[in-house]
Amino acid sequence: MSGPALWFRAAVFFAALALASCDLPGRPGPEPEVLRPEQVLDFRTLYSQNCAGCHGAEGRGGAAVALADPVYLAYADDATVRRVTANGVAHTLMPAFARSAGGMLTDKQIDVLVSGIRGWAGTSSPGGIKPPAYTAAAPGDVTRGAAAYQTFCARCHGPDGKGGSGGHSIVDGSFLALVSDQGLRTAVVTGVPGLDAPDWRSDVPGRPMTEEEVTDVVAWLASQRPPFPGRPYPALTASQGGKQ
Ligand code: HEC
Ligand code: HEC
Repeated sequence: MSGPALWFRAAVFFAALALASCDLPGRPGPEPEVLRPEQVLDFRTLYSQNCAGCHGAEGRGGAAVALADPVYLAYADDATVRRVTANGVAHTLMPAFARSAGGMLTDKQIDVLVSGIRGWAGTSSPGGIKPPAYTAAAPGDVTRGAAAYQTFCARCHGPDGKGGSGGHSIVDGSFLALVSDQGLRTAVVTGVPGLDAPDWRSDVPGRPMTEEEVTDVVAWLASQRPPFPGRPYPALTASQGGKQ
């Protein structure tokens, strides 16, 4: 028999097979590395994939609050941003993102989001006075709230909140059904940057709302919420399969 011994050819064959079928350790593969969803820890990627659709590019606001607004960041602390991001807000469009609450993000990813959002505060500050507390200290008073509405809001949203020259209706049932009381408080404190909706300091120029006025006007707005939101059809009768 000529040529290398059979055992030698067999060894070369198996060595070639091993080289072809697995990467040598430390050798970069030809494909760019694709991260599994839970491995993404880059703030911009996490934010744009999960939040920008509602909160706007770079936190500038859209259908939902501008998270990068310096007033918002002075008003909401990290624990709040984390809690809401993790658990969402029941009965609103704000989803729960934590795995523990049925979402897709790990605790680590939520940490990245919270510190990235805080990072937007940069060196800017809302200037001057501190915003009202995030959480109302006591329940608001609807009657006092109606008066505060006239003082601070009616010039734009109309005498009854149904809309005016400077703003749309804020007592619309579909709007109120989808926003939490806390969401209303945020809207009153921060306004809507970029849309000429003033923050709590400048509804009446030079006359910031007091903490109590903010709480009361939110109570008045919440009292306009329809009792059965999201029930456009009458109840089914027994013959239609409903309960009597
Ligand atoms: C489908 C739309 C939607 C998406 C996506 C979304 N949000 Fe929201 N978010 C909302 C709405 C609506 C509210 C206001 C809820 C309410 O009425 O209180 C809200 C509220 C919040 C608040 C609390 C605001 C306050 O009043 O203090 C935070 C913080 C927040 N979202 C963070 C995030 C982050 C971070 C992401 C991405 C991981 C995200 N949201 C994705 C719609 C969304
Ligand atoms: C200078 C005019 C102006 C004043 C004063 C004003 N708003 Fe607004 N408000 C706006 C504008 C503009 C918007 C943005 C959208 C629109 O209505 O067209 C808005 C939006 C809102 C929203 C909806 C926010 C959202 O998330 O979509 C609420 C709630 C609201 N205002 C409540 C109030 C309350 C309560 C007051 C009084 C404390 C008030 N506004 C005072 C102009 C005003």
